[in-house]
Amino acid sequence: VKIGVLGTGTVGRTIASKLVELEHEVTMGSRSPDGDALLEWVGESGERGSGASFADAAAAAELVFNCTAGGASLEALAAAGAENLDGKTLIDVANPLDFSQGMPPTLSVCNDDSLGEQIQAAFPQARVVKALNTVNAAVMTAPDSVPGDHNLFVCGNDAAAKSEATALLESFGWPRDSVIDLGDISSARGTEMYLPLWLRLMGALGTAEFNIAVCAP
Ligand SMILES: NC(=O)c1ccc[n+]([C@@H]2O[C@H](COP(=O)([O-])OP(=O)(O)OC[C@H]3O[C@@H](n4cnc5c(N)ncnc54)[C@H](OP(=O)(O)O)[C@@H]3O)[C@@H](O)[C@H]2O)c1
Repeated sequence: VKIGVLGTGTVGRTIASKLVELEHEVTMGSRSPDGDALLEWVGESGERGSGASFADAAAAAELVFNCTAGGASLEALAAAGAENLDGKTLIDVANPLDFSQGMPPTLSVCNDDSLGEQIQAAFPQARVVKALNTVNAAVMTAPDSVPGDHNLFVCGNDAAAKSEATALLESFGWPRDSVIDLGDISSARGTEMYLPLWLRLMGALGTAEFNIAVCAP
């Protein structure tokens, strides 16, 4: 599959490298296609990895990951271009963390709205699936690094897009029954508002490599 990964941070590079390993054709998008972060990744990713602007990365793709800073995601996706996202599954990994007041960050949108919903509203023809935002980048593509059974969530309005996203998650190593479908995109509120707890757990445990398990009879 041709996949666009928007974002050159730890998350974008981790996901893009895993996708290349899985033999997808990956174009990583950035504001600076000639920037060091992008060139470095392209240099180490082999013939299936390339770099481009946000717009060219989205245009070349059949499926797109949003791995941009949450506060900039709407801007980055606008730069990608609605026409390049139309009809495509858009897996949104971003969290709307606002670090402007220092640590711990606050959420720039919460309670009765979420970044996932804002993205779906701004790009109504994209098939937005919120996923992977509840785990650290290292865990996203190596779920086995956390012992035991533990869970991920998918949120989105389009059932076929959620199935497509879940199949990719399975290829990352997440057992199918570990992925809980929370419902429509408004359920992204819950996974984004989990972040304050995630940040405190990281402090309490002294590591970012953990996850939660949902237990039910
Ligand atoms: N780090 C984690 O373990 C983790 C875990 C779960 C979820 N997340 C979420 O995943 C996303 C990516 O996180 P990250 O740590 O990899 O990197 P990040 O530093 O949060 O984001 C880096 C990306 O955001 C883009 N960006 C920043 N400001 C921008 C602006 N004003 N306009 C357009 N694009 C802009 C950058 O573009 P350029 O390439 O052009 O510089 C870069 O590609 C975030 O939303 C984060 O909350 C992170």
